Amino acid sequence: MPSSNWWRTAAIYEIYVRSFADGNGDGEGDLIGLRERLPYLKDLGVDAIWLTPFYRSPMVDGGYDVADYRDVDPMFGTLADFDAMLAAAHALDIRVIVDIVPNHTSAQHAWFTEALASPPGSLARDRYIFRNSGDEPPNDWESIFGGRAWTRTPDGEWYLHLFDPGQPDLNWDNADVRAEFESVLRFWLDRGVDGFRVDVAHGMVKEAGLPSVGHPQQIGLLGREPLPYFDQDGVHEIYRAWRKILDSYPGDRMAVAEAWASTPLRLARYVAPDELHQAFNFDFLAAPWSARELRATIDACIEAADSVGAPTTWVLSNHDKPRHVTRFGSPGTARAAALLMLALPGAVYLYQGEELGLPEVLDLPAEARQDPVWHRSGGTDPGRDGCRVPLPWDASLPAYGFSTTGRSWLPQPDWAGLAASAQQGVPSSFLELYRTALRLRRTFTGPLTWHDSPAGVLDFTRDGVRCVVNLSGAAVPVPAGSVVLASGDLLDGTLPPDAAVWLRA
Ligand code: NOJ
Repeated sequence: MPSSNWWRTAAIYEIYVRSFADGNGDGEGDLIGLRERLPYLKDLGVDAIWLTPFYRSPMVDGGYDVADYRDVDPMFGTLADFDAMLAAAHALDIRVIVDIVPNHTSAQHAWFTEALASPPGSLARDRYIFRNSGDEPPNDWESIFGGRAWTRTPDGEWYLHLFDPGQPDLNWDNADVRAEFESVLRFWLDRGVDGFRVDVAHGMVKEAGLPSVGHPQQIGLLGREPLPYFDQDGVHEIYRAWRKILDSYPGDRMAVAEAWASTPLRLARYVAPDELHQAFNFDFLAAPWSARELRATIDACIEAADSVGAPTTWVLSNHDKPRHVTRFGSPGTARAAALLMLALPGAVYLYQGEELGLPEVLDLPAEARQDPVWHRSGGTDPGRDGCRVPLPWDASLPAYGFSTTGRSWLPQPDWAGLAASAQQGVPSSFLELYRTALRLRRTFTGPLTWHDSPAGVLDFTRDGVRCVVNLSGAAVPVPAGSVVLASGDLLDGTLPPDAAVWLRA
């Protein structure tokens, strides 16, 4: 495989393993199912896949509650299945990134079991964040999933969990914790993975003294205001140590941060030359469908990444956010947004099923829902199950071919028309749009230059492409050049509203 900084321009496809493809018929996606579908991903044109956690887990939070970082959960297969999948991906020139979850473990991790069985003040408890503050929790911190971030143990101590009580936060001031994660990184690097996606990369270090925030609704401040439990300067020392480990392996290994910081410049610190390689760009994902706001976001993100010599990344959907067909309100807009994203310089992260134009599933029955967000909000927040519904592969099979038995851990809506089999070879389909776009994208190089354009229109050139996106509400003339790809039909030489076109001079 060519190795020089492959991640700088890569198209990386996120696999939510549980919902991608089920190889053993139990209705849960797994590593065997994934391996069988690798040719589809090759054909789609992705450079790498990122796998959400498949480690041993009680699945309180879809596997982001890890009980054993060095083993595969039986739901997903075995280590041998992982090795076979990795070898098959590499044989197709597809790189593999795995998730690492260092902010918290599962409450069923051996360390936490030991901590609960050990007395307050013990070394086992010091690996987590336990405090004795009497009947009131130690501070006002809130769980990202709703409710307070502290749970009391029978002996009266409280432990911190920024997510579910089944996900106790680790104490990164403890040397065991640092050594353990360095060892876990090596375990997967030795197996041959190409990189890591670092979960809650901004969370591991907490402000000394654990001060209260001072008010409720703290989740609303995420990524906007400083918080004592996120984006503390101390996290960077951890990444400098990790970078040395990554660099000590051959083959251009990388890491991408799931980091939330209050400004693009603070986010850029995670991708300094001696830290991680990339960070997700949630500003782009969160930007409204407005030319002014998208252009400002694109410029700010490029500038911030340039300031440290890192590549930008772009993402429209992932396993935590409503799918962008639904967010933008129409498949046509989602197609235009895809052409915008795929023309930008840097790396792109695609979420499984976006290439099929899948919408968010809004009407899952309550009894099917599994996300702790749904449960902890008392059902007032639908949570993230709606973007995690298993993929439709074949319109003619039960569960649309997701499993060999027709089982599916979440019910699928009528997706016959969106199944991969129904879109294959249909030029106007989402799938063929993504395939063509991913193929053409490989020929685009260099930075972006904006053209003067009418209000509500984004128009920029890179070497190999001119991309025009019409967000103005009225048709606009298509500039001179030959059309190489369009998100929809052009009308008499004009670009309709909510459409995008790629041109060549
Ligand atoms: C971010 C992950 O993407 C999300 O799914 C998970 O719930 C939290 N981190 C906690 O690990």
